[in-house]
Amino acid sequence: MKRIIIEGNHTLSGKIKIGGAKNSVVALIPAAIMASGKVKISNVPNISDKDALLEILKLLNVTVKRSTGIIEIDACNLENKIIPESLSNKLRASYYFMGALLARFKRVEMYFPGGCNIGSRPIDLHLKGFESLGAKITKENSKYLIVADELHGADIFLDFASVGATINIMIAATMAKGTTHIMNAAREAEISNIADLLNNMGAKISGAGTEQITIEGVEELHGAEIKVIPDRIEAGTYIIMGALLGDNLVIEGMIPEHNIVLLNKLQEMGVNFKLQNHKIILNKTNNLKPTNVRTVVYPGFPTDLGQPIAVLLTQANGISLFDETIWENRMGHVKYLNKMGANIVAERQHAQITGPTKLHGEEITATDLRAGAALVTAGLIADGITIINDAEHILRGYERIIAKLSSVGANIKIVEV
Ligand code: EPZ
Repeated sequence: MKRIIIEGNHTLSGKIKIGGAKNSVVALIPAAIMASGKVKISNVPNISDKDALLEILKLLNVTVKRSTGIIEIDACNLENKIIPESLSNKLRASYYFMGALLARFKRVEMYFPGGCNIGSRPIDLHLKGFESLGAKITKENSKYLIVADELHGADIFLDFASVGATINIMIAATMAKGTTHIMNAAREAEISNIADLLNNMGAKISGAGTEQITIEGVEELHGAEIKVIPDRIEAGTYIIMGALLGDNLVIEGMIPEHNIVLLNKLQEMGVNFKLQNHKIILNKTNNLKPTNVRTVVYPGFPTDLGQPIAVLLTQANGISLFDETIWENRMGHVKYLNKMGANIVAERQHAQITGPTKLHGEEITATDLRAGAALVTAGLIADGITIINDAEHILRGYERIIAKLSSVGANIKIVEV
């Protein structure tokens, strides 16, 4: 088990460069296997989620060439095998192989587990979309068999603007006969990144990033290149750390408009930051005002920053209210923040956070990726030493987090125990 150890109260000064978006690359890699030629993906983040997907490519006999930040995928000799639970349960996003294999082979057989730490995480909207396109789905225990004589265009209305379902249906529809409209589509920035790759491969997709996406099916998809967009959640996490400990901390290589809602919230709280093109400069703000945060679909406040911002709210002068509306179980960080001295009263998806509270170091546990990011943020401002167990969760989505924080003055290390 990996353990992160932090000595708190060191100001953060210098530059942190943001890497490629986890929630883009985990869809770009499966999408690439539909091409009849090589696909080159650049600005790939060095995160464990990516490695899990590459293991699935290996199983499918897909050739992968890797160099720093670059993956070249050649799926010409792909063998459409059953994807076992041992691989698919390493990350939820393995479900994108359903859309890609269905599009290319009209058949996919994969074990896919339910649930994870932040909720039941059903995939009913993905499956309903595939059925609308003409697929037949059978499920035995957690093994899915999805087949289609032919995939045809359809009008698909999503009951919820699901990121995964939007992307998976978009992928599956690229080679369907006819036109597909996805209505009430998710609008997260990553969706446009995937649509750009698919269009570079010869797909005909318009409207990505809006609530209606149109896909004109094509016969074949060819090789292409794509650059992964900067990770807006990684950027947001470091921005929050800068608001707490920054001394001219520069977060660079980000796209500010992808974090506009977070920046508006920070402005409301009186956080001291300066925006310049693709970077933001942060200085610790002492007199933080409380505010209310409600996580909703893009372009609203992102659920993935709900846990990190909770730490900032523990330092505000007053009571802040927090509502998580996307996931049913995303409060894994609360009991550990309270153990460190925070004053958070949480009831299901709602929390009342009273500040400012002085945090002190404790031995705690990361329950999921973004809860882990919140605990690192708390450890950075706590008095004394904080030990975070199950740190593997954090490495799934934050590339080189120890190196990046150490390079700007944090006293942080990771050990194997
Ligand atoms: C993506 O998950 C992200 N993961 C999540 O980030 C992020 O929290 C989420 O979008 C919302 O922004 C990746 O992109 C790999 P959803 P996804 O489908 O696609 C319900 C992180 O920390 N739902 O938008 O799985 C679901 O239960 C991760 O980086 C259905 O009911 O999210 C949830 O309540 C965590 N049926 C809500 O929709 C479905 O078929 C949001 O799900 C699909 C989803």
